[in-house]
Amino acid sequence: MLIDDIKALSNEIAEDVIRIRRHMHQNPELSFEETETQSFIRSELEKIGIDDIKTCANTGLVAMIRGKNPDKKTIALRGDIDALPIQEENDVEYKSQNVGVMHACGHDVHTSSLLGTARILHQFREHFEGSVKLIFQPGEEKLPGGASLMIKEGVLKDPDVSTIVGQHVMPLLDAGQIGFRSGMYMASADEIYIKVIGKGGHGAHPHMNIDPIAISAQLITGLQQVVSRNAKPSMPSVLSIGRIEGYGSTNVIPDEVNMQGTFRTFDEEWRERAHKLIVEYCEGIVTSMGAKCEVEVRKGYPHLKNDQAITAAMRSAAVEYVGEENVVDLEIWPAGEDFAFYSQEIPATFYRLGTRNRDKGIDAMLHTPRFNIDEEALKIGPGLMAWLAITQLQ
Ligand code: NI
Repeated sequence: MLIDDIKALSNEIAEDVIRIRRHMHQNPELSFEETETQSFIRSELEKIGIDDIKTCANTGLVAMIRGKNPDKKTIALRGDIDALPIQEENDVEYKSQNVGVMHACGHDVHTSSLLGTARILHQFREHFEGSVKLIFQPGEEKLPGGASLMIKEGVLKDPDVSTIVGQHVMPLLDAGQIGFRSGMYMASADEIYIKVIGKGGHGAHPHMNIDPIAISAQLITGLQQVVSRNAKPSMPSVLSIGRIEGYGSTNVIPDEVNMQGTFRTFDEEWRERAHKLIVEYCEGIVTSMGAKCEVEVRKGYPHLKNDQAITAAMRSAAVEYVGEENVVDLEIWPAGEDFAFYSQEIPATFYRLGTRNRDKGIDAMLHTPRFNIDEEALKIGPGLMAWLAITQLQ
């Protein structure tokens, strides 16, 4: 059975996939600066025997694996390659050697796993019809997102990609588990910048000043109503103000206050309308209190939607591969992810690879200095993704 052969090969190459992961982990590079990473990936692809490799979005790569009737259908598999500006605190032999830079979001895992998948698909290329486009994407962690740049450069065209699949590590699932969710999965993530301009002065004479602190307090609580009184109750939305700066003192009212926050939701139309409401609400309150404001909503990634038919098909293929007991249905996850750009263009599915192991003390969250994975997950990741791809192409 092909599935058993894939499992066997995935196990057999796990040691090598872990070597790749550790090399990347030790040599992380920030978003859009992944030049060493890019040449490393290229050399690993060439080792496999894959020679159709193109540069895309400057530090990204796109490689093709052709099966029988290669023009019949093309699906894409995506792995992101960039790291984060975090100083690693794990005491491991493969600890990051680049000060202040760390693979704290598992992109080393996504890329090494995808290279393992490439090796398996290349070996079994006589067993499927159509082609697989491997996308090694830079700059997931930084606006405008490497995905948007690659799409602009035509990564989903020539040959046209009918479906795209992405995998992300998940420290809330045990190694061995795989998570899926159909429909809306990850949030759009937009940045809010508000400047309230009043008139500073002595704290004893508020009537002679325009107090931007008091106005900001109104805004912070009032902005919650943009969400609670305007979003459909069925539509998850989050508005959080995470920073407020006003440099007065016990007896000084400052001239201005600056705030920053985030707005997240799962529907593009509502997202646009919410942006307008945020600006109008701030302007209305601030003007009524005699001050001025500058409000900017900086657009981040759109929301990530998992195509129902594709996700259902992938989920049942995963059940075949890891067993029903190891497939988990996920809740929505209000973080942002630039894979969302692909999901706005073509049918997509983004699933989760469990990486936690409490017995080994591996349970730190993503984007923290102690994030790590149970590398047992790398026995499953490569073969599973190969199997998902082949079931789409059979
Ligand atoms: Ni990530």
